[in-house]
Amino acid sequence: MKPELRMQFLEGMSRAATFVAVVTTDGEAGRFGVTISSLTSVSADGEHPSLLACLHHLSPAADAILKNRTFCANLLHEDQHDVSDLFAGRMTSGEHAGRFDRTAWTPGALGQPVLAGATASFQCQVATSVLWETHNIIIGRVTDVGLSESPSALLYGQRAYRRAVQLSHHAS
Ligand SMILES: Cc1cc2nc3c(=O)[nH]c(=O)nc-3n(C[C@H](O)[C@H](O)[C@H](O)COP(=O)(O)O)c2cc1C
Repeated sequence: MKPELRMQFLEGMSRAATFVAVVTTDGEAGRFGVTISSLTSVSADGEHPSLLACLHHLSPAADAILKNRTFCANLLHEDQHDVSDLFAGRMTSGEHAGRFDRTAWTPGALGQPVLAGATASFQCQVATSVLWETHNIIIGRVTDVGLSESPSALLYGQRAYRRAVQLSHHAS
């Protein structure tokens, strides 16, 4: 690939503000968690709602999710950029278990870690996955949803954390 094309792609995608989530997993393959911006809703109207996450194939979290077959997608609240940094490995070494000692969490309905303060959490069973180039695209079947009091999600765009600002009021 031409280096210039890669740079242009990264710059273009940096302009897409996305919400920030931490995918967590617990089970026989161990407890892992990683920050992602690739959480995407797929369908609300299948047999179960479904979502997808793209995880680098070298991330131990991806390997553990595919072995545990269950995970939780925690949509972070706008005040939780420190939790995002923690699960992106910016505050500790690469060790994942230590990340769970530094933030509050409880096991959800499938036993998957729900991070305290997350604006929404989705307990999922792995439905299918595809390894595409460097990333595993993992599709989860949602079995339980947790919602906190505050609906404001953390955003990441133009290489910085952001919060969403309402531009106009809809006439009712
Ligand atoms: C805002 C933000 C979004 C990220 N999105 C993703 C993503 O969608 N997929 C991914 O594999 N890594 C993503 N990362 C990088 C991982 O969080 C980070 O590389 C990872 O935690 C490295 O540790 P690990 O290899 O021990 O898992 C993101 C990081 C940040 C700060």
